[in-house]
Amino acid sequence: MSGGATHDAHTSTPGRALLTTLSILREDLPEDQRRSAHRGRQGVSALSNRAGGDPSLLHLSSATTEALPNPLGSVVPGKLDTGRNSFHQFLCQKLGDSVAHDLLPRRLRILGHVAVLWLEPEAIPAKARIGQVVLEFDSKIRSVLRRTAPISGPFRQPAVELIAGDAHTETAFRENRCTFHLDPMKVMFSIGNKAERARMSQLGAGELVIDMFAGIGQFSIPMAVHAHPRLVHAIEWNPDAFHYLQQNIEANRVTHLVTPHLGDTGVLAPQIAQGNADRVLMGLIQGTTRYFKQALACLHTGGILHVHEIGPRHDAAGRTVELLERAAQDERRQVTLLATRTVKTFSPGWNHFVIDARIDEVTQN
Ligand SMILES: C[S@@+](CC[C@H](N)C(=O)[O-])C[C@H]1O[C@@H](n2cnc3c(N)ncnc32)[C@H](O)[C@@H]1O
Repeated sequence: MSGGATHDAHTSTPGRALLTTLSILREDLPEDQRRSAHRGRQGVSALSNRAGGDPSLLHLSSATTEALPNPLGSVVPGKLDTGRNSFHQFLCQKLGDSVAHDLLPRRLRILGHVAVLWLEPEAIPAKARIGQVVLEFDSKIRSVLRRTAPISGPFRQPAVELIAGDAHTETAFRENRCTFHLDPMKVMFSIGNKAERARMSQLGAGELVIDMFAGIGQFSIPMAVHAHPRLVHAIEWNPDAFHYLQQNIEANRVTHLVTPHLGDTGVLAPQIAQGNADRVLMGLIQGTTRYFKQALACLHTGGILHVHEIGPRHDAAGRTVELLERAAQDERRQVTLLATRTVKTFSPGWNHFVIDARIDEVTQN
């Protein structure tokens, strides 16, 4: 992480402008990823297009897991994200000259017993051979998936294919003393959001929380396990993600702290919260701003909103803040920006950020 910068921002109050501090925490790409993003052979836009801004292709955190037995056999402790040199060197050594070394992947994400990688188009003909070698890289890997397209669609489903190993890809792993069950063939889990998951585990004590885009419980579970909220309502409309959300609530023994809801958050969130929520989590990107009206309706005055979105690095949050302020004005609410943090690099020149804001009623003069 490079140094932070501090920016002034204003709160939106109809007829009033207040000044507050907006701190921007930057997470720059490590040098090797910057080189990759800018290498002449492909060009920045080519990489950006291929990656499609898929955070799971470009995020760079390294996270360790705890060992967790799973139904398919033993799992040894390992890393969610491999050290790039060791993995690349391993592939080069095992594959010899059969595949050009600069085409071989440098990163591997490991979720339980499932390894997920992205291959350069030129390396795809060798995918079966590469997959077999990946199986040898770590004894816990039993399935190897290749991303075929960015995560997309309303359900945010991954596009992946099995290139080696076991077709049974349902798995489980532990992070921050939380257990996550999932099938990486069916649902997304962004390793790059690890720091944000850890942050959420420290917020919400005693609060009524609405997790509007719950996924498999990436935020709800750590919050419930560590912060002991009064209740988290976790809303999700993808039946596969909802299945694992329910399973994770039970596996982490937080059924009394997290209530799952299957359906459209745009309808359910305001109905459930009735304007009484202390905190609302908007853990979606590329579409979050469409739900501002409903998120605002959830919160009582003084409630806290966490908004995730993406934006160009030079002013990542600017447009989203503008839209939030406009939505607040329409609802006669006041926004006080508390902080904006970079969650991860989304694609070259673009960041995934999260805004923390306090929402109040407009005070009448
Ligand atoms: C990108 S995932 C993020 C999960 C988690 N919040 C995180 O940040 O890691 C967003 C989830 O929101 C769900 N989602 C999107 N729009 C929704 C809606 N209108 N109602 C309920 N769930 C929705 C998707 O199905 C997906 O599982």
